[in-house]
Amino acid sequence: MNAAKLSRTEFVVLRDLVYEKCGIFFADNKRYFLESKLMPRLQAHSLSSYGEYYRLITTSLNGKGEFEKLLGLITTHETSFFREMPQFQILKSELFPKCIAQKQAGIQRLRIWSAACSSGEEPHTIAMLIDEHIILSQPSWQIEIVGTDLSETILARAKMGHYTQYALRNTPPAYRSKYFTFINGTYHIKQRIRHRVKFSQLNLFDPVKMQLMRGFDFIFCRNALIYFDLNSKTKVVESLYKSLIPGGYLFLGTTESLFGIQNEFKIAQFSGSVLYQKPL
Ligand SMILES: C[S@@+](CC[C@H](N)C(=O)[O-])C[C@H]1O[C@@H](n2cnc3c(N)ncnc32)[C@H](O)[C@@H]1O
Repeated sequence: MNAAKLSRTEFVVLRDLVYEKCGIFFADNKRYFLESKLMPRLQAHSLSSYGEYYRLITTSLNGKGEFEKLLGLITTHETSFFREMPQFQILKSELFPKCIAQKQAGIQRLRIWSAACSSGEEPHTIAMLIDEHIILSQPSWQIEIVGTDLSETILARAKMGHYTQYALRNTPPAYRSKYFTFINGTYHIKQRIRHRVKFSQLNLFDPVKMQLMRGFDFIFCRNALIYFDLNSKTKVVESLYKSLIPGGYLFLGTTESLFGIQNEFKIAQFSGSVLYQKPL
């Protein structure tokens, strides 16, 4: 069988479907990219055209599962523990002490959301920092760490909490020995850290679920905005703004910024990184 070609019409309907469901946008010059990424899925289902694949996703019973596979092929789940370390330094050395001072008189609750958490390294890193810097001094605090992602498959890995040495490549040795157990060539995150993070599936473009995400002190949405066009980025940033408490901070990836995106955040300049703060 000759390899199927993605026609312009098929490209447009598939691209529009992906955009409408999860904000990921493919410019016209990405037709070949999409064709080559989705080719294995046509082969897996013995389909001879991308039009048939589109019908499979939109009308068949296992369409939702197949769409998830499609998303897995067009996004990257690249992450690691302590990725972009300066931001975690700011969290532990500047923001946690400020939080502790501010909350002494008020509600002693801390809520942190890792909003595109991939296999969980980011929220687990946050949980380790909380364990080190908050739990001992503030044992009565109510602490909630939430990790969400579009992909159920990657979340299943996050929930398991087993990692390769590569995932720990930026992890300081003291954290490696304190928070992981090395079993049969794999690093298992310790139970007390694993149990601190609640994982669930969430599409940043799901208006119903996004409305339920409220009252966070800190939101990490790092290295996910890269997938979205300006319109989608604006929508996500607006939702994340609503999800923060006044004074709360948004962390983006260090190569990302809100430049050119209409928003109400205040720029918060720290040594080594820029964060975005919802005004008080
Ligand atoms: C490169 S990873 C970033 C992981 C982590 N935040 C970090 O910076 O290391 C990007 C993640 O964004 C997720 N993602 C892409 N579009 C999304 C959407 N619409 N809603 C939620 N997550 C999304 C992908 O599934 C992927 O796991």
